[in-house]
Amino acid sequence: MLLKGHLERVLFDEPAIHRRLDDIAAQISNDYRDRELTVIAVLHGSLMFVADLLRRIPLPLKLECLSVASYHGKAQTSGKVIFKLPMAGPSGGGQITLPDIAGRDVLILDDILDSGQTLATIQETLETAEPRSIRVCVLLSKKKQRVREVDPDYVGFEIEDEFVVGYGLDFRERYRNLPYIGVLRKELLEEG
Ligand code: IMP
Ligand code: MG
Repeated sequence: MLLKGHLERVLFDEPAIHRRLDDIAAQISNDYRDRELTVIAVLHGSLMFVADLLRRIPLPLKLECLSVASYHGKAQTSGKVIFKLPMAGPSGGGQITLPDIAGRDVLILDDILDSGQTLATIQETLETAEPRSIRVCVLLSKKKQRVREVDPDYVGFEIEDEFVVGYGLDFRERYRNLPYIGVLRKELLEEG
């Protein structure tokens, strides 16, 4: 079956996403017009979002990526956030090294704010590297009680507390390649 058949409904189609990215990019470009941004992309979920958003920001900026795992293939957060990237080079013994952000203006880009545990952990970990400022931008924010408080500076869309996929967002690593965002059919979430 084609991927679209796995969705209960589409929430944001491609034109809607792109129109919203135009707005956020304009806001960010205005806010950082006199500063040089260091963007930290939280992979893999933010991949499409980062690629499409950054191409709309006509300012000098640096891009770093981190990868974290918190879901372990379930539709609910496990509560434990594990940093997976970037890894230290051969001399670093394989431990996690944070991007060099001392004194920099950092903007974290993530796909979705759910329980808040992932972004709260990333934010507090990056703070230890003494950036000049840290802001958070998420494509989606679920309207719900959070386990950890996160106050994003830029939000693409607020959504109800439903499991969504597409445009980078996955369920068990699938559906990231859908160009739009939709609600996954409940019976697929419950399988396995
Ligand atoms: P949090 O730590 O609970 O805020 O979860 C954040 C991470 O969980 C996101 O970066 C996503 O990878 C994943 N996540 C949370 N809700 C959804 C969803 O509705 N669809 C797909 N992934 C989700
Ligand atoms: Mg995920």
